[in-house]
Amino acid sequence: MSGFSIDWLDLRESADHRARDKTLIEQAIRWLDDVSIPNQPPLIADLGSGTGSTIRSFDNLIAEDPKPLSWRLVDHDPNLLAEAKRRHEVSNIIELCVTDFSDIQKLPLEGVNLVTSSALLDLVSANFIDELAQKIKHEYQSVGLYSALNYDGTTSWTPTHPLDRAVLKTFNLDQRRDKGFGPALGPEAAKYLKNEFRTIGYKIFTAKSPWLLKHSDHKLTGSLIDGITEVSLTRNELKASEIKKWHTFRKQNVGTGSCTVGHIDLLALPR
Ligand SMILES: C[S@@+](CC[C@H](N)C(=O)[O-])C[C@H]1O[C@@H](n2cnc3c(N)ncnc32)[C@H](O)[C@@H]1O
Repeated sequence: MSGFSIDWLDLRESADHRARDKTLIEQAIRWLDDVSIPNQPPLIADLGSGTGSTIRSFDNLIAEDPKPLSWRLVDHDPNLLAEAKRRHEVSNIIELCVTDFSDIQKLPLEGVNLVTSSALLDLVSANFIDELAQKIKHEYQSVGLYSALNYDGTTSWTPTHPLDRAVLKTFNLDQRRDKGFGPALGPEAAKYLKNEFRTIGYKIFTAKSPWLLKHSDHKLTGSLIDGITEVSLTRNELKASEIKKWHTFRKQNVGTGSCTVGHIDLLALPR
């Protein structure tokens, strides 16, 4: 339904978890401890939750000092939400919301302490972030925001290939394509979020969270190479024969080379 299969989300999960900045998650957890009401688990709304990757990243960090957290998982794909529930309903308090939040008025934020997202806000438009910030400012003043794994437009490879830069340029143009929220922010997402939440008076903390893909990630790297190639072929900015040569070279080196894909994590907290 959404174009994000359980298999694809599982494939990227290990790289995502290694990449996420742990300090920001710990800071978010400490902040939740400070703001939540005693004996009432804080409520976190995870937007575009998929199968619950953000729950797992929080759970990993509170494993030694477990504390109850309530999660409201918001996604338009009921299959992903059902899988998230199956994986987490024993260890966490889970509420599911099947919602298309491209209409921001449909965001279910009642009672929420923290809004989270991962690998999501580079898909949305500037307008979406403006509306989100205004909604939080006017309706839910004390809500924090944790947004992980926002692609920053950088991808580097070893060994290098003469077409790397041109292919990346094409790929990054495609990142701005409308993904259902208006023209996507793509690589500009973290910068835009930072400015917008600073404007409404929030304290902003950011950290780099790159995918560092080695030979053991060859399945994910191979899938990334296929995806970049497919996108580049549809955009007609480079010759198809050149893109295919790049693809062949990248696939030949997938088991021995490396790939770094830049992301930025952000935590925005009300003052
Ligand atoms: C790249 S996936 C990230 C999933 C998860 N956060 C993770 O890190 O594994 C983006 C998620 O956003 C959801 N999504 C995309 N557009 C949406 C929309 N308009 N309304 C609700 N969910 C949406 C997809 O179904 C998918 O689960």
